[in-house]
Amino acid sequence: MSNRKHIYAVSALVVVGAIVTYFGLTALYKLPVGASTEATTIDQMFGVYFGLIAFWFALIMVFMLYAVVVFKRKPGDTEDAAHIHGNTTVEILWTVVPLVLVVALGVWGATTLKALTSEREGEMVVRVTGQQWSWSFEYPESDNLVSGDLVLPVNQPILLKMRANDVLHSFWVPEFRVKQDLVPGRDTELRITPTDIGDYMLRCAEICGLSHTDMLAKVRVVSQSDFDAWVKENSLPAMSELSTEERGALWYSTQGGFACSGCHTVDGSAGAGPTWLGLYGRQEALEDGTTITADDAYIRNSILHPADQIVAGFPNVMPPIYEAQFAAKEAEILAEENLTVDIIEDLIAYIKTLQE
Ligand code: CUA
Repeated sequence: MSNRKHIYAVSALVVVGAIVTYFGLTALYKLPVGASTEATTIDQMFGVYFGLIAFWFALIMVFMLYAVVVFKRKPGDTEDAAHIHGNTTVEILWTVVPLVLVVALGVWGATTLKALTSEREGEMVVRVTGQQWSWSFEYPESDNLVSGDLVLPVNQPILLKMRANDVLHSFWVPEFRVKQDLVPGRDTELRITPTDIGDYMLRCAEICGLSHTDMLAKVRVVSQSDFDAWVKENSLPAMSELSTEERGALWYSTQGGFACSGCHTVDGSAGAGPTWLGLYGRQEALEDGTTITADDAYIRNSILHPADQIVAGFPNVMPPIYEAQFAAKEAEILAEENLTVDIIEDLIAYIKTLQE
């Protein structure tokens, strides 16, 4: 076969190989449905990268396998192969082509990142708080409504202002494609414009301790009118309108902002911490071998100083952050409603209602 024919054969094989690899890759690494404007941009990039990867893979594999199969030494052939002392054209090509390509991809990546992270017109702010092991969402533009679900109006540019209360967490909704860490002591931002009404799942994508895999939250993208209705329905009542038990239930929930529910169940099932069902008055066996009765003093102390009295079978993972958080909330209620509340008392009143 002449050299020209070998070149035609190799070229045809590279094209076929690249196409097969591309479809194989896209079938193997199927992305979930894209549900944000960011997803469109990211998926275009994915497409181009997959195409380049497929072409490069085919190029290398075809040349290698073609040489191995077609130019295999015949039996009895003991002659030395032809010696080649470089080829300037080829060397220039394989230096310049990848250089231009890598620089172009770098520029494209940088401009895309800039576009995805820069301010949009008419952004709605949602404050995201991540803590071991729950999420909460605050809507400053809707009277500081707090929710355990992330509810977003469709086609509305969203600015997430995120903060971690304890350790690193990471905000990740695969359908939105973009992802951002939450870093203790620093506010981080993420911009999303959801384009598809539907239910999604927020996952924490940074290993953050015992119940990392349970650190999930529902994400609902709804129409603007459904969003307005949801805000109306979920806005918090005045604290003075609630009984201590009702306030306790509120603080327990993610809506109340402290999310005890992230670790303590009220149905008797196991969580990262002991269940609150039947807790009040229960005899608790402690790690040090002693037994105590779960009374007001014990519960108060366990919230303020979680490391003091550890219930046997539950590693001490509760952060000692609630004294400061409760004080801040109590001061806020005092300022807004001129009402003195003791959040721990509210919680104890709520726990007392949870009898088996
Ligand atoms: Cu939070 Cu993993």
